[in-house]
Amino acid sequence: MTLYGPVRDDLRLVDETLNSLSPADFPVLAKAMDQVLNAGGKRVRPALALLGGRLGGYELGALVPLAASIELLHSATLVHDDVIDAASTRRGQATTNSQIDNAATVMVGDYMFAHAAELVARTGNIDVIRLFARTLMRMARGELHQDMSAYSYGQSTMEYFNRIAGKTASLFATAAEGGGMIGGLPEVEVTALGDYGENLGMAFQIVDDILDYTGDEAELGKPAGSDLMQGTLTLPALLFIERNPDKNPVKRYFSGKQRAENLRRALEMIRDSDVLDESYTVACDFRDKAVAALAPIDGSEAKESLIDVANWVTLRRF
Ligand code: IPE
Ligand code: IPE
Ligand code: MG
Ligand code: MG
Repeated sequence: MTLYGPVRDDLRLVDETLNSLSPADFPVLAKAMDQVLNAGGKRVRPALALLGGRLGGYELGALVPLAASIELLHSATLVHDDVIDAASTRRGQATTNSQIDNAATVMVGDYMFAHAAELVARTGNIDVIRLFARTLMRMARGELHQDMSAYSYGQSTMEYFNRIAGKTASLFATAAEGGGMIGGLPEVEVTALGDYGENLGMAFQIVDDILDYTGDEAELGKPAGSDLMQGTLTLPALLFIERNPDKNPVKRYFSGKQRAENLRRALEMIRDSDVLDESYTVACDFRDKAVAALAPIDGSEAKESLIDVANWVTLRRF
């Protein structure tokens, strides 16, 4: 895999930093962190941070802590997300919440969040630290909105886009933008990286939401078909409701009647309709906007790699 081009080898330094964090004096916590961090995450966010920095002065002394901080923040949100979703597998392994109870799992996640903040402080860059804190606020709001809208039928696609902008796109934006800030890029290029990351994150989450309908567990490393089951309306389901406003099994499922049968029927109808293709077109539009946002930045190997990542996001199967 040549994805992440010029920073591919340096991602190893990010992994080394992440592996140095597990507390040797607290085996339960160390084991939980080791499992989450070594289970084969794709490392797309830390790659974006390094690539953003690579466009400028490539200062690994600050970029590696930033990239590790972002991956740790991401992993902590997944630890919490799996509690919220009662998920049993992630990255092909048993989730923390399936091994220790929910209350303890939440605190493992909290510890990881705090450690991510400690890592980002190592950059010594107050603007990046502020960006990190604001991003965590946006992510928590996005997840909270999603949780509060579970099983609520009358949602708009606009609410969905706002939600995924918070829970996912914000961190992609921060990864790329933060890297550019550490790299000392001019403001217009930092802003361009932020726009790139934000649009890429939107595409990434829409593809994740499509894969929840089309993917299989072995490839995804996490259960498929679970969004609708949990009452989460993502773009495919929202478009399906828009096209079939009256009688539809999603509505019946959400109203609590004949649950299993209506869920089965809803999944089948969504998979057989063209809303998955339409959702894919929307994801590709965001990918195109991400690439277009890079226009103010001069050509380089790092820029080419950012474009490759954008293309990969819409081609990926896991
Ligand atoms: C999963 O992110 C959560 C979403 C935003 C959809 P990734 O698909 O990047 O997860 P890992 O890190 O590769 O496991
Ligand atoms: C992403 O949403 C979760 C976060 C950004 C925290 P999902 O709920 O779709 O992620 P997966 O599918 O569980 O990885
Ligand atoms: Mg989830
Ligand atoms: Mg998902």
